[in-house]
Parts: sequence; structure tokens; C-alpha cells
Amino acid sequence: SKTDELSLLAASSGNLSSSTSPQPTAGKRSSKDFIFGRVIGEGSFSTVYLAKDIHTSKELAIKVCDKRHVIREKKAEYIKREKEVLNMLSVNFKATAPFFVKLYCTFQDPDRLYFTLTYAKNGELLPYITRVGCFDIDCTRFYSAEILQALEHMHSLGIIHRDLKPENILLNEEMHILITDFGSSKILNATHRDEERAVRRRNSFVGTAQYVSPELLTDKSASPASDLWALGCIIYQMVAGVTPFHAGSEYMIFQKILKLDYICPDGFSPSAKDLVDKLLVLESSNRLGACDKEGYPSIKSHPFYQGMDFETLHQQTPPVIS
Ligand code: ADE
Repeated sequence: SKTDELSLLAASSGNLSSSTSPQPTAGKRSSKDFIFGRVIGEGSFSTVYLAKDIHTSKELAIKVCDKRHVIREKKAEYIKREKEVLNMLSVNFKATAPFFVKLYCTFQDPDRLYFTLTYAKNGELLPYITRVGCFDIDCTRFYSAEILQALEHMHSLGIIHRDLKPENILLNEEMHILITDFGSSKILNATHRDEERAVRRRNSFVGTAQYVSPELLTDKSASPASDLWALGCIIYQMVAGVTPFHAGSEYMIFQKILKLDYICPDGFSPSAKDLVDKLLVLESSNRLGACDKEGYPSIKSHPFYQGMDFETLHQQTPPVIS
């Protein structure tokens, strides 16, 4: 039954640490604790609503999944993974993980699952890139640096996002990034991490065509370097205004990716081009940063980021996007 299959989702879903939780009282929440507002996001099996906590008046985003739909589409694994990853990232949130949406609590009713999340007031990064055509160098440096800090933290925990793209990068009220949508992510455990490299377990997951790495297309294996490929695509997109591999169909996009068929247009900043060229490398282990032991010193020391203080990014005032 749907409750059996999804009961695991509820099993460990107590509210998170009370000191950072928006609720004044302990105990399981329900949809009665919130006033639901407009739809702010829609996925293939979920809808995200703007909501207000009736006890604190705090605004939240609530992701609602229809259980029947989740089971019909065999997506229970995705939802469990998303919850597990959000829980890992929500621990010690302010100190270590300022660049992720935080999961406050989860609850369910007979038909639906609910995740209460940070509300990212300024929505997705994508329309900002589209609206201005492309980012200036300051904006590109700042926002790609925040994404890199976020990747460094996730990867240190063994989490690969696998669907990193400007639609999954949200902006809070201060215009800092909040990465979301961990339904496609993968958690490498310590023993797995080495095994994974050797065995190259097959899985059927492929992210979004424009940002998917060649290794996901050829041997269906993802590593943290797959997110570095996506970062290369996003830096290119910020500078050029379009993704590096675009074509009329997914099939043709995949062909271009596998042939590394992209060009940086005239006027593309030379240091940004050098960085993109070092991230968009077919062999994943040859990407800049792929062999770094801890953090991404080889990316951070690239001339493109000269003078950037990565440690204090979330305390800095973001450059105005124009
Ligand atoms: N769209 C999807 N998730 C969201 C969130 N947490 N905040 C704002 N918009 C969203």
C-alpha cells in the first residue's frame, strides 16, 4: 500500500534541531500549522507553495508530493534521497551550509508528503541570466564562486547533485544562492567512494540535457566531477548568455557534448574561457579540481578568481546584476 511504501519517509522525520527551527513548539507539524499561498514551483511529481507558519508568521516554501503519483512513477527513492540529503545539509546550517535551502520539517497526510523549506524570495537564477542577456565579469565571478563553495561542501559530505543548473539555484532576499532540488542526487558513502570508481556501477539516471556530463551519457556513472562539468556549463552560460551545448533536440545536444563541440564567442573573457576550457574536459579525472584532495584549491587559484575571498562570500554584498 502507499503508506507502507512511503512509511520510511516518515520514520525519521522528526523536526530538526529546535534552535534553528522556525516553530516555537516541539512535536509533529501538520498542514494545519501553515497557511498555504500561491504556487512558486512545479516539478514532475511535486508542487511548491509559498506558505506562512501560523505560529511565527515566518514565510516558508512547502514542497508537496502526491503519494499516488510518486508510487505510480516509482519515485519514492528520489524523495527519500532528497530528504536524506537535505537533512545532511541542514545540520549546522548557518556555519557550514549557507548556500542550500534548509529542510525545517516533514510531515504527511494520507494522500501527500510535505517538506517545509527555506523560501528563496528572489526565485531562480535562470531568469536573471536571461533577463540581462549575460552576466558581467563581477557577477559571473561572484555567483560561480558561491556555487563552487556549495559544491565543495556537498562533495566533502559525499553528495553529488547530478542536476545542477540555474533553475535549481535559487536566490534569497539578500541575493545569495540557495541550491535546491536534491531529488536526483547521489550519496557516496566512504567505502562506496572508492568502490564506485573501480566498479562504475550503472544507473539509469541522466539529468538535464544541456548540463549533463559525458560520463553520464557513456557509462552512466557520476562522480563529483560531473557537478564540475555542470559548473563549467553554468559559467559559460553566465558569460555568453546561452549554454555551451545547445541544439534542436536532446539527441543532438548529447552528440555535441560527446564531441566537446562548443566554442566561446568573440568577446568572451579570456580568463573565463581558460577556466571553462579546463572544466569542460571529456575525461572526468582531468577536469580542474577533480584530483584535489580537499576543497577545490586548483579552481580557486585560477586567475579568473584572482582576489576572490571564498571564505566570506555569504557575508559579502553580492554585485548588482545588470
Ligand atoms: N521554487 C521552488 N522551490 C522554491 C523555494 N524554496 N523558494 C522559492 N521558490 C521556489
